[in-house]
Amino acid sequence: MRKPFIAGNWKMFKNVTEARQLVSELVPELAPFTSVERVLCPPFTSLLAVRALLEGTGIGLGAQNLHWEESGAYTGEIAPYMLSEFCQYVIIGHSERRAYFGETDETVNKKVKAALSHDLIPIVCVGETLVENEAGETAQVVKRQVESGLAGVTLSDWSKLVVAYEPVWAIGTGKAATADGANQVVGEYIRPILANTLGINAASLIRILYGGSVKGSNAGEFFSKSDIDGALVGGASLKAGDFTQIVQAAG
Ligand code: PGA
Repeated sequence: MRKPFIAGNWKMFKNVTEARQLVSELVPELAPFTSVERVLCPPFTSLLAVRALLEGTGIGLGAQNLHWEESGAYTGEIAPYMLSEFCQYVIIGHSERRAYFGETDETVNKKVKAALSHDLIPIVCVGETLVENEAGETAQVVKRQVESGLAGVTLSDWSKLVVAYEPVWAIGTGKAATADGANQVVGEYIRPILANTLGINAASLIRILYGGSVKGSNAGEFFSKSDIDGALVGGASLKAGDFTQIVQAAG
């Protein structure tokens, strides 16, 4: 019922030359997997070059951030309408943005609303830190992040929202969550919270991804779980072969 969704978050890697190289390797490799929604999220500087190479391939393009204002004197920021000219997706509230760039549940919420109002599909990231995990606070952290991140969002097209559960301790550490543990957070906490706020129907349509040290060798186990609909992939999205293996596992 929910189409599998795999997004590659390139973070601050790849200049335009490197991006073109990676995408030209990826396009033929990803071509067979049309049953999977495949999305690449390069840095802003490579969006145009990547978009040209993705034209007609069925592979989507996403940004890694946006500003919530329509336009204005915000040096260094990128407005939603600038992205919606050529992107379909945008990652919002990644834990690196929360940890290093002062993003809060409140700014995440503003960004989610701004994205939706410009027809950009937000990939909203939530997840607990190691300290919170060890203190047994996962459920409450995730609840707060989902509820405040999506507060007051009233657009009808809920199926367009994507949520990524990314425990901070699993990101870039090589220490992924267990598939059962991730499925529990998604199925017992996140989806029920979505059902409470948006209704059961909407909650059953929303794709919820797992992210944090996903690779070819563990992807299949995550995707075999009932509530995990795909992955947000960091490190393993930077090599065509690795990313393709993950997409294949979702197909
Ligand atoms: P990772 O990153 O796959 O390198 O752990 C995931 C992410 O940050 O989205």
